[in-house]
Order: sequence, then C-alpha cells, then structure tokens
Amino acid sequence: MQIDLTGQTVLITGAAGGLGRAMAQTFHAHGANLVLSDLDVDAIPAQERALALRCDVTDAGSVAGLVAAGTERFGPLDICVNNAGISGPWGRLMDLSAEVWHRLLAVNLTGLFHCLQAEIPAMRDGGRILNVASLAGVSGAPNLAAYAATKHGVVGLTRSLAHEVRRQRIRINALCPSFTETPMLDAFGEDTSRLQTPLNALGRFGTAQEMAEAALWITSPANSYMTGQTVTLDGGISAV
Ligand SMILES: NC(=O)c1ccc[n+]([C@@H]2O[C@H](COP(=O)([O-])OP(=O)(O)OC[C@H]3O[C@@H](n4cnc5c(N)ncnc54)[C@H](O)[C@@H]3O)[C@@H](O)[C@H]2O)c1
Repeated sequence: MQIDLTGQTVLITGAAGGLGRAMAQTFHAHGANLVLSDLDVDAIPAQERALALRCDVTDAGSVAGLVAAGTERFGPLDICVNNAGISGPWGRLMDLSAEVWHRLLAVNLTGLFHCLQAEIPAMRDGGRILNVASLAGVSGAPNLAAYAATKHGVVGLTRSLAHEVRRQRIRINALCPSFTETPMLDAFGEDTSRLQTPLNALGRFGTAQEMAEAALWITSPANSYMTGQTVTLDGGISAV
C-alpha cells in the first residue's frame, strides 16, 4: 500500500519521546510537513519541512500558540496526533499522592482537551485525528490505576468526538498500545522484564516503530471508513 502525504501537514505532540519521534520520522518519510512539539523542544531532531516548538499541553495558551504557528507556516492541518503523555509511578492507588493524580489528569486528559479545542477549527475538511491512549484505556491496569483512568477518558473523548466533528468529515480514532520500548517504561522505576505477561502471544514488548506504522495507516487516506474506534496493539494480551 502506497501512502503519499506530500503537501499534507501533521501536528504531533510529545514529539521528543519514543513514540512521537518514531511517528515524526515515519510521517516525514511519507512526504508530510511536520509541526512538532514537546515540553523538551531541544530533544526534537531538526529536519527539513518541519517546525519544532515548545508546547506544554497543560496550558491552553501554549497549545493555541502551537496551532497558530503551525498553520501560519504550512496552512490548515491535515493530521493531528495527540501523543504527549505521562505514566506516573508504578504502584497502588492507595500510595498515590493527590499531586501526582492531578498532574496525570492535567497532562493526559486536560491536555488532550486543550489540543482538540485548538486543532479542530484549524483542520482541513476530511482531516484525521489520532489520540494516543493505551491498552489501559480499554482495560484495567493494576498499579497504574490513575493512568488507566486518564486513558479511559481519552477513549471516551475519541468516541464522542467522532460524531461532533462529522460536519467537517474529520475522522478521529485512538491508538491503544500495551508496553512499548520507550523512555516511558524507565519512568516506572521497575525491572521491565517483570512487566512482561504470559498473555502476550508474541512474547515481547512492542516497538515505537510498530506504533508509528499503525499511526500512519490509521490516519492515512486509505483508511477512509474508520472513526470513533480504538486500535489495540498489544501482542495479543487482550485477545484472551
Ligand atoms: N511506552 C509505553 O509503554 C506506552 C504504552 C501505552 C501508551 N503509551 C502512550 O504513548 C504516548 C507516548 O509515550 P512514549 O512511550 O513515547 O513516552 P515518552 O516518555 O518517551 O514520551 C512522552 C513525551 O511527552 C512529553 N510530555 C510530557 N508532558 C508533556 C506536556 N505537559 N506537554 C507536552 N509534552 C509533554 C515528554 O516530554 C515526552 O517527550 C503517551 O501518551 C503514553 O501514555 C505509551
């Protein structure tokens, strides 16, 4: 399947991280212009046809500035990948501080709210939105309960918005990875081999590149009839 995004503009949040970087490289390789953003803008690799800007998704003004700068440079947005996120620490909800709970909500859920509000009016008719949720957005995640709550919210927003944006013919879907080899896994402070489960039919974690290939296909013009859906890439964990 040939996917040609030449002349199309893709906005990605969290573009300095594991998934964001792989997605940026993959969309770029298929011809897209990129509007890349992260809290840590210096960690976004420079490339042609790409604008890199610092953006904190918890700040509505920062997100509005990102979208304004992106559209000024490349015109209306074709694809928005709302990927910025944090996991919080591995552990029981009883041990989680209120501060960490509020931070998780602010980044993973309120951050997505800010992004959607800024992006949708700036998108071309027929645009595509991909929200990065998690397997923890469609099933429980012991030791990551607060994270799971935020990602269930991401899925709820995705499903609901599919109908709200239909006049613009925007398709909106969520990607639900299970554990994927990125710096996020290190943030758990756990021996990552302990996170592996016998329910994973493929016997390994996913890679950022596998998630990026899925993101490309989900948002591609070829995938024209899917909206309001979750796409789970979990090595078969949820199949049993
Ligand atoms: N790695 C996994 O196992 C896994 C599994 C399921 C879902 N996810 C989701 O994938 C997405 C990307 O995660 P990743 O694995 O690449 O992690 P990562 O930590 O490598 O990247 C996340 C990026 O988000 C950025 N970020 C954090 N807070 C931000 C804020 N307030 N504003 C803007 N940017 C901010 C970070 O600076 C970082 O570059 C996240 O939404 C995460 O929840 C990851």
